[in-house]
Amino acid sequence: MKRIVSGIKPSGDPTIGNYLGAMKRWADNQHIEGCENFFFIANLHAITTKQDPSLLKKRTLDIVAWLITVGVDPNRSVIFVQSMIPAHSEICWILNNYVTMGELGKMTQYKDKSLKSGKEGQLAGLFDYPVLMAGDVLLYDADEIPVGFDQVQHVELCRTIAQRFNNQHGDTFKIPKATFSKTSAKIMSLNNATEKMSKSDVKDSYVLLEDSADDILKKFKKAVTDSDNKVAFANDKPELSNLLTIYSEFSGKPVSEIESEHKDSGYGKFKTELGELVAEKLTALQNTYSDIRSNEERLMNIITEGNSNAAVIANEKISVLKDKIGLL
Ligand code: TYM
Repeated sequence: MKRIVSGIKPSGDPTIGNYLGAMKRWADNQHIEGCENFFFIANLHAITTKQDPSLLKKRTLDIVAWLITVGVDPNRSVIFVQSMIPAHSEICWILNNYVTMGELGKMTQYKDKSLKSGKEGQLAGLFDYPVLMAGDVLLYDADEIPVGFDQVQHVELCRTIAQRFNNQHGDTFKIPKATFSKTSAKIMSLNNATEKMSKSDVKDSYVLLEDSADDILKKFKKAVTDSDNKVAFANDKPELSNLLTIYSEFSGKPVSEIESEHKDSGYGKFKTELGELVAEKLTALQNTYSDIRSNEERLMNIITEGNSNAAVIANEKISVLKDKIGLL
């Protein structure tokens, strides 16, 4: 049985980047025979940046509801909340002793923030973020971690930590591997195709799953393009390649078909059609979401059941770990 584990932070509302790069794929994965799926809300990771406490609670439930909306089925997947399983914090402390400051200092997320606003003021939690993440998957003996490209470096460090621990203490952890979509692992910003689409960027640069149809249309109409007015996917056309990827993901059509349908369209017409397509698909998802989100009791029951299934595995792993390193 192959075990699949992945998480998402409730630090903002999910974007179409989260959806296409991760959440939608998690839903698709469930239909592969012989896989056990574990998906969690990484709220301990979320607090490495400042959060409004009541909003954080609300968003945790929002994301559970979004996962169910996009097709993650609580009968096929274990859905749980990271902070509700203390084993996640415990393993993080233990693994801190199997990773160096040098290794953590090389992580892009920390390096980028340090370059922007200086190293000294960064929170220790942000520096340690990848260790908590390593623990998240090693606790469950995960085989595969479906993520977007931005998380691949973290999974590589997780493998290093696991191997180091195994070398010192004998086989303890399975060495997991990151998996990502060939097409949608890096959905780029609508303002700047060299940056990934991110909910922490400026408002026009991303599309949220909960954006209104009007906003979606406006954002796509304003999306930055090049100046040759040719709808084509190419290395030297990152903006159009990104828009074509989004079009293809939402329509289910191959990029080549969209290119030929739009060979005579100018960018204006192409972007309007893309905006309308995404707005139509997201409006349908939003209708399902509001039903699912309104039943908070059901959401809490799903979390409680998921937590108790996940905790059995996580607690057993913590006992093994403690025993191996001599903790009573
Ligand atoms: P987070 O919350 O930033 O994003 C959740 C997932 O969405 C993917 N993603 C994207 N994919 C394609 N294009 C984009 N523009 C885009 N933006 C986000 C992310 O790659 C991710 O897969 N550290 C993780 C959460 C986490 C985790 C884990 C993941 C905590 N522990 C253990 C896997 C395993 C994060 O911040 O994801």
